[in-house]
Amino acid sequence: MINERVEKAINEQINWELYSGYFYLSMSTYFETIGLPGCANWMRVQAKEEQFHAMKFFDYIIERGGKVTLKAIDAPPSVWESPLDVFEKTYEHEQKVTSLINDLVDLALTEKDHASYNMLQWFVDEQVEEEATASDIVGKLKLIGNGTSALFMLDQEFSKKVFTPPVKE
Ligand code: FEO
Repeated sequence: MINERVEKAINEQINWELYSGYFYLSMSTYFETIGLPGCANWMRVQAKEEQFHAMKFFDYIIERGGKVTLKAIDAPPSVWESPLDVFEKTYEHEQKVTSLINDLVDLALTEKDHASYNMLQWFVDEQVEEEATASDIVGKLKLIGNGTSALFMLDQEFSKKVFTPPVKE
């Protein structure tokens, strides 16, 4: 049986992951409106990854005999200043998620819930990747500046991104 406090915290994290998906979908619509379909695709795939994260927590609670309690998902922002603004907000958002995952790890340790601690290591690793990816794109966009052709090349590259569920969950 899952520890009660950990169950409550993971339920809150499910809401955060679903919100993250919503957040990236909103960014995807922004890119559609400014004519960058590759970036829109990148965000759409990112939203799917967030849904995957939410379901990973969802399934874990069920596997441990707990109860999933879904709550309302907040509306994400819908106005963005530029592609750089979007990816800077993405990076900030992922840093926030990392701190939430770290809090969950701390809680699992405090509660001596070793199974949850082990499960959370997947997310610890995932956040390293999420932050590195967002930070890398922010760096590229800063270099690109107002270079339209370089931005279109990046957009082309992002059109190839596909959602691939991890083999080992
Ligand atoms: Fe599920 Fe991007 O953190």
